[in-house]
Amino acid sequence: MSKVIGIIAGSLRKESFSKKLAKAVQDMAPEGFDFKIIRLDELLVYNQDFDDNNEVPPAYVTFRNEVKQLDGFIFITPEYNRSVPAVLKNALDIGSRPYGKSVWDGKPGAIFSNSPGAVGGFGANHHLRQSLVFLNIPVMQQPEVYLAKINDAFEENGSIKEGATKEFIKKAVDAFIVWFNQNKNK
Ligand code: FNR
Repeated sequence: MSKVIGIIAGSLRKESFSKKLAKAVQDMAPEGFDFKIIRLDELLVYNQDFDDNNEVPPAYVTFRNEVKQLDGFIFITPEYNRSVPAVLKNALDIGSRPYGKSVWDGKPGAIFSNSPGAVGGFGANHHLRQSLVFLNIPVMQQPEVYLAKINDAFEENGSIKEGATKEFIKKAVDAFIVWFNQNKNK
């Protein structure tokens, strides 16, 4: 049976570069893998009262169940103020609770950060890495994926241009598959 990898982009923006990257990465799934885009649009900001008072929003239930079925993750994060956009951190927080029932635990992951700027989302990448360490997601170390000038990477129709960025992403996806196979079921 195929292994299912969640592609989780940290932006709600319609024309988001991270969402376009998610689609490009989805199309690179090798045989034996299903890359599934996980949507974050419906998730209310996390409030622990929802869990404590058994008033869990239906979108949380759907999201937690969806992530529970996944075997691993590729996080595609933009950078907001040198950190992770709230929408992505919120999704991590929702999936991590109730206490002891985290849906992230032990599944391999990778971080692809991006920005129209020159630094490629380095700050977001490493802040996200910090949370993933705590969530016990073994995160691919090499290659590090900081995608700079991402606004130049797409065609008008939103598909990724042929060229160095696409080739590098392909290499990173290949490396993630190796990482995944080494770290699954650990
Ligand atoms: C940004 N942007 C940005 N870029 C960057 O390289 N470093 C940063 O710290 C920030 N900070 C930041 C804060 C906020 C609130 C916004 C809205 C934007 C610019 C950001 O990279 C750009 O808007 C991207 O296009 C956002 O990603 P998506 O939506 O295209 O995936």
